[in-house]
Amino acid sequence: MHLNLNNGHILLTGGAGFMGSAFIRFILKQESFKGHLSNLDCLTYAAHLENLESIQGDERYTFFHGDVRDEKLLEEIQRKRPITVIVHFAAETHVDRSITDPDPFIQTNIIGTYKLLEFIRKHPEIHFHHISTDEVYGSLGTEGTFTEDACYRPNSPYAASKASSDHLVRSYGVTYKLSTTLSHASNNYGPGQHPEKFIPLMIQRILEKKELPMYGTGDHIREWLFVEDHARAVWAILSLGKKGEVYNIGGGIAMKNIDLLHLLFEVMEEITGKKIDKGLVTYVADRPGHDFRYAMDGAKVEQLGYRPIWPFKVGLRETIRSMKKVCP
Ligand SMILES: NC(=O)c1ccc[n+]([C@@H]2O[C@H](COP(=O)([O-])OP(=O)(O)OC[C@H]3O[C@@H](n4cnc5c(N)ncnc54)[C@H](O)[C@@H]3O)[C@@H](O)[C@H]2O)c1
Repeated sequence: MHLNLNNGHILLTGGAGFMGSAFIRFILKQESFKGHLSNLDCLTYAAHLENLESIQGDERYTFFHGDVRDEKLLEEIQRKRPITVIVHFAAETHVDRSITDPDPFIQTNIIGTYKLLEFIRKHPEIHFHHISTDEVYGSLGTEGTFTEDACYRPNSPYAASKASSDHLVRSYGVTYKLSTTLSHASNNYGPGQHPEKFIPLMIQRILEKKELPMYGTGDHIREWLFVEDHARAVWAILSLGKKGEVYNIGGGIAMKNIDLLHLLFEVMEEITGKKIDKGLVTYVADRPGHDFRYAMDGAKVEQLGYRPIWPFKVGLRETIRSMKKVCP
């Protein structure tokens, strides 16, 4: 794609969130990055500015407090420093919340993406990379994986809102000949994730000796990807990917939720030296429309030289250690 990444101006949306902040830390760790990184985030409940403490004072970084739907602010950022690439992480991301109240998901995930694409239409020299999810493909049975050609079958308002935004990105690329790429990631985990998500929720509740709610029978299968591996994959796409292409990013570690909880017990017992009361596992009514299994075929992104490098237990250890400060 020949993007001027190391000397350009990258505008990241949602950079105070879990995955966006990991991407910012990843870029700024690279000494070869001599460009500028701006982070546009409106700081919803899901934002954690403490995830960015390590990069405070870095002259290559600027934070803009605002909404992706704010066209004036986007123009202001562009006027201050012409943008080379937008990497669009900002979204409402929690499936359970989308079931209770879909509206913010429609507003940010669909309208927000549309506003950014309209902005790019006025500045067609900017490349747009859209961060999407495996959930747009719906649910797999016991066999098979999702390739980039898999059908869209979103089953939650969250997945449907992400699917809509994906379609907008594709259509703007084709119709207006804009420079776009899109990636679908499997479940990310790692330090700095909001404790409403499965792994930090379980770690926190284990530390607090609270009941451990498990949806349905605990047999649902997810594929896990360490958040820094995700950042490396997106960087590989921006560096070597092809304009207009879609890439699936998986972590290669597929596991039933109940087995993952038992692995967490094992790793936490190793770290703390204390036995965990497994009787705290409580099976609760299944989530409506709960997808049974997701699994990615990562062959295409691997052609760009990307491989996940974090072994699962090492990534879990890192995650648990980062959360010990929340221990009462
Ligand atoms: N977490 C996962 O496992 C996973 C997997 C695949 C794809 N994704 C996608 O990756 C992206 C990032 O996910 P995450 O888990 O880091 O999310 P997150 O919920 O941790 O963070 C989202 C961030 O976006 C910001 N934001 C929300 N609405 C905004 C708006 N209107 N304007 C500006 N900022 C806004 C929030 O303040 C927050 O900082 C999302 O697009 C999500 O759909 C997530």
